[in-house]
Amino acid sequence: MIDQLKTEMNRRFGVAPADVRVVRSPYRICPLGAHIDHQLGRVTAMAIDQAVYLAFAPSGDGNTRLQSLTFEGEISFALSDVPDKIDGDWGNFPRGAVRALQKEGHKLTRGITGLTAGRMNEGGLSSSAAIGVAYLLAYEYANDLSLSPADNIRLDQAIENGYLGLKNGILDQSAILLSQKGFLTVIDCASATHELIPRSNIMPDFDILIAQSGLREALISTGYNARVDECARAARILLDAVGRSDREPLLGNITFEEYEMHKNLLSGALAKRARHFFTESERVRLGIDAWRAGDLDTFGRLIAESGRSSIENYECGSKPLIDLYRILIETDGVYGARFSGAGFRGCCVALVSPQKSSAAIEQIQAAYRTKQPDLSKNAPVFICQPDNGAMIL
Ligand code: GLA
Repeated sequence: MIDQLKTEMNRRFGVAPADVRVVRSPYRICPLGAHIDHQLGRVTAMAIDQAVYLAFAPSGDGNTRLQSLTFEGEISFALSDVPDKIDGDWGNFPRGAVRALQKEGHKLTRGITGLTAGRMNEGGLSSSAAIGVAYLLAYEYANDLSLSPADNIRLDQAIENGYLGLKNGILDQSAILLSQKGFLTVIDCASATHELIPRSNIMPDFDILIAQSGLREALISTGYNARVDECARAARILLDAVGRSDREPLLGNITFEEYEMHKNLLSGALAKRARHFFTESERVRLGIDAWRAGDLDTFGRLIAESGRSSIENYECGSKPLIDLYRILIETDGVYGARFSGAGFRGCCVALVSPQKSSAAIEQIQAAYRTKQPDLSKNAPVFICQPDNGAMIL
């Protein structure tokens, strides 16, 4: 991949291979901690050995020129005049990255010439944060800026929340920037701090199985933001009840005891969203204990319970994703499974015994073909492994 990108950079833009840098920015999975990052919950993550790649060279002036092995067309713009978001356009990510850096006062004088590669529109593996992070790292390199992972988490969040308009949390970019092979990344979204917990040597081996649904739709056009708003309405009612109306309406600003005392004030969708937040937070706590103890059975069971709560309480699935989830948890060798990411489209993730993963793939594909004959034509199921976070190679 790296050699191909360098050759193409030379063929398309005349950049000498020795002058090309490549950012490898991995996709992520989130075993536990679904939809609680934007409410300041604690979430878990791992980066995987599938990534987006951005080959680039500083352009020598203030202009950016980009092509992609995945998307059609060329993106070009000047640092001095960054256009607004264009719906569905892959150029939103480099433009968003530049805007985010400029908004924080970083003086950018050099654009980039670049070429991207990787599956970028599948959904569920955080391809959008992966590419956002890749552009941030490339512009920082080109402009001799040395920023910390914490800076880049905040900057990528500005791309997603500010430029793209998605009200998501910091799970994705934190996982992509902080993860290390052999560790579970635990992110405390309230304090924006993290811990890397090593995998116990008594834990059985597992493969990460990704089952695509074949549904591809940008997250911004799903019910994602509406669910975040419902969480805020539930938080507002609970904060008023405990006399802290001045606090930002986020469920993480309420303790479990306060929730237990006042949850009868919530009904319908708001009651369900709050139930998801507080039960998921507990699953994260138990899951971290299980991970430390090397107890993959318990870790997996909690993942499956998280998936069920996403369906029943957070109500974020779509029919194909729910079909996939049900197939996965019934498949021999699967420790646990859930929507990977928001769950409206994209894929499900499972942890599976390596001895059983080949048979599992066949079983899952056959079952999904029966449930979703059309979507299954374009819905690969594949195995991957945990890996390191984003870096310039
Ligand atoms: C998407 C968002 C994340 C997170 C997950 C659900 O991936 O980008 O911030 O909310 O959904 O856990």
